[in-house]
Amino acid sequence: MVEFSLPRNSKVGKGRTFKAPAGAKNVKAFKIYRWSPDKNENPVTDTYELDLDQIGPMVLDALIHIKNEVDQTLTFRRSCREGICGSCAMNIDGVNTLACLKPIEEVKKAVNIYPLPHMPVVKDLVPDLTAAYAQLRSIKPWLQADTNPPPDAERRQSREERAELDGMWECILCFCCTTSCPSYWWNGDKYLGPATLLAAYRWIADSRDEHTGERLDALEDPLKLYACRTIMNCTQACPKGLNPAKAIGKIKQLQLERKG
Ligand code: SF4
Ligand code: SF4
Ligand code: FES
Repeated sequence: MVEFSLPRNSKVGKGRTFKAPAGAKNVKAFKIYRWSPDKNENPVTDTYELDLDQIGPMVLDALIHIKNEVDQTLTFRRSCREGICGSCAMNIDGVNTLACLKPIEEVKKAVNIYPLPHMPVVKDLVPDLTAAYAQLRSIKPWLQADTNPPPDAERRQSREERAELDGMWECILCFCCTTSCPSYWWNGDKYLGPATLLAAYRWIADSRDEHTGERLDALEDPLKLYACRTIMNCTQACPKGLNPAKAIGKIKQLQLERKG
């Protein structure tokens, strides 16, 4: 019989509780995953009771309040605070999303906050995206055009050609989709995942790119592309309303068409 043992740092214990300030009337609990590489301990969830009357409306506002006023050791990424940089992606109330776009009032009870699932953790809510970025680099997410001499000005597109890129250029590389994909959870070392495949199709579909054949060749692989089982978690998870599953389907369709 196969026996499974939990890897180190996989049991999440109960951590500290930071009580709401005296006199607070509008209190909500935030239960936040904590793990530090500097301590040889399993992760815990710390509970922070906050007075909602003192903070802004979004989950990121609560995290920033905790960091500034309650517990400076809490670690998370953020930059733009308006859904543009993708750095505040995390799992809130069981769903991958952007903390800056997630209203606190949408979570009825305590707000449970974890890092993006199935990624190594650098610290607390910060996932290690090194492997995901290496996969992104592997699909060469830049224009490849060999025409010589290159044009003096910009490479032009018709309105229709430009419209082909809608639904893809908006991707902010938050990896909410990739980390919600069961195929990526199990085969993340070989399967490229929806964020990288959306980026791959963005360049395949670009009328100015001259390496479409090579790009399709590079994806002709049982795991890199075909580990996608069309489960559609990715599309449901995208906080920008994009549809990576559709882009993956289009790559598969192009590969079929060129086989004739
Ligand atoms: S459609 Fe494909 S990429 Fe999206 S969640 Fe499902 S298996 Fe993953
Ligand atoms: S497709 Fe959506 S969820 Fe995936 S990385 Fe891009 S913006 Fe994030
Ligand atoms: S802080 Fe930039 S997307 Fe949330």
